[in-house]
Amino acid sequence: MAKKLWGGRFSKGTHKLVEEFTNSIHFDQKLAKYDVIGSLAHIDVLKKARLLNSSEHSKIKSALNSILKTIENGTFKIDPAFEDIHSYIQQLVETKAGKAGLKLHTCRSRNDQVAFDVKAYTIDNLFITQKLVDDLTIALSKLASKNKNIVLPGFTHLQHAIPVGLAQYLGAYVEMLNRDHVRLYNAAKNIRLTLGAGALAGTFIPSANYNLKKYKVQLHSIESTKNSLDAVSDRDFVIESLNALATTAMHISRLAEDMILWTSKEFDFIDIDDAFCTGSSLMPQKKNPDVLELVRGYTGRIYGNLVNVLTMMKGLPLAYNRDMQLDKEPLFDSFEIIQKELAVLTELFKNVSFKKANIDAQLADESLYATDLSDHLVQNGVAFKDAHKIIGHLIQHKLKNNVEIKSMSDTELKKFHPKLTAKAVKLIIDPKHSVQSKNLLKNKVCEHARFQIQKE
Ligand code: ARG
Repeated sequence: MAKKLWGGRFSKGTHKLVEEFTNSIHFDQKLAKYDVIGSLAHIDVLKKARLLNSSEHSKIKSALNSILKTIENGTFKIDPAFEDIHSYIQQLVETKAGKAGLKLHTCRSRNDQVAFDVKAYTIDNLFITQKLVDDLTIALSKLASKNKNIVLPGFTHLQHAIPVGLAQYLGAYVEMLNRDHVRLYNAAKNIRLTLGAGALAGTFIPSANYNLKKYKVQLHSIESTKNSLDAVSDRDFVIESLNALATTAMHISRLAEDMILWTSKEFDFIDIDDAFCTGSSLMPQKKNPDVLELVRGYTGRIYGNLVNVLTMMKGLPLAYNRDMQLDKEPLFDSFEIIQKELAVLTELFKNVSFKKANIDAQLADESLYATDLSDHLVQNGVAFKDAHKIIGHLIQHKLKNNVEIKSMSDTELKKFHPKLTAKAVKLIIDPKHSVQSKNLLKNKVCEHARFQIQKE
């Protein structure tokens, strides 16, 4: 029989529909490991406070450790009839440890337990995600260095702008992912892991007994909140994590969109290995970038999860309210989606090849070099606004008369400005020249990409 952690003051059982509506074990079972870890810390505190003797402590400890073993080896099975994972583990401990098990829940509330469990789950998953972000960063950096001679048209407003190096282009995503790395770390560092708040008011056990300093987020000791009401009702860490995940989702969605464009016939800059594409049931010729489309598509759900928890929290009076049970599904969902996305993207980027001839054909568009031509005039003493106008007229002339600037004679060019010579124009209308003439910012990004490769 599924036992509840409460019931003494009730004169009848819970309605079946209420149980179905309020139970959370079908999703909070993901917290099983953390629930056991929290209980192992809790029994040490109970022993220190002389609420458990040595024999009771060791009986409960071995029951908890045997449960932990089944969780870690994948044989842990839940009973869906229980209200939540906390009630179920309590019942398992009672079965294994006998009467001693009845003391496990001393000075404890599920309000405190669930806050600890979700915080511990979040810390673990922030670091798992951070590692996956780093893997993608490395895959992008490697792809850039494997194709370091590729220059492609840079875009603004999705219109040809100025040529850029591939390392520079992908380097922009490396920068975004590096910021994501820090954002995930900061979210972990800001978690206040606590035990001992009871239902909201604290308990008679001295708070000094709850020393969580042994837990560390990498090199930083974990702080704990100094307020028991905050301990059970803080969900900032869920929101901060969902925010970090939403930002990463936005970044990889933009990356996916760039790649979707690059695979289209209209661009045709890259080929993605067949193993990472899908076909059509009707059109035999199709090879579709569904992985990238789903990465883009999931972004809505990940944003939704953030807004979901922000909205769920906004009107809650202190301290714990059952509404907070609803933080878990969005949190788990965002972590699971992002982790899958990062893993599949990392493999996909190991399987991308560039179609240099197609890219070079696009680079023949002389309008891409208009800024370089105007820079040439500026470097020869022409005021920028005059240079902008002169080259604007030159481009207008080119488009109207369908002529190549590179094939215009000195006399024709000099009508626009004496410093526009056929020799200068030939030198300037060149992708490599364009990229190499730009400032150090680009080089820093390339160096950064190299740094990432060495780090592995
Ligand atoms: N399932 C609950 C949650 O996830 C656990 C805490 C329940 N506490 C309570 N007082 N009903 O938030």
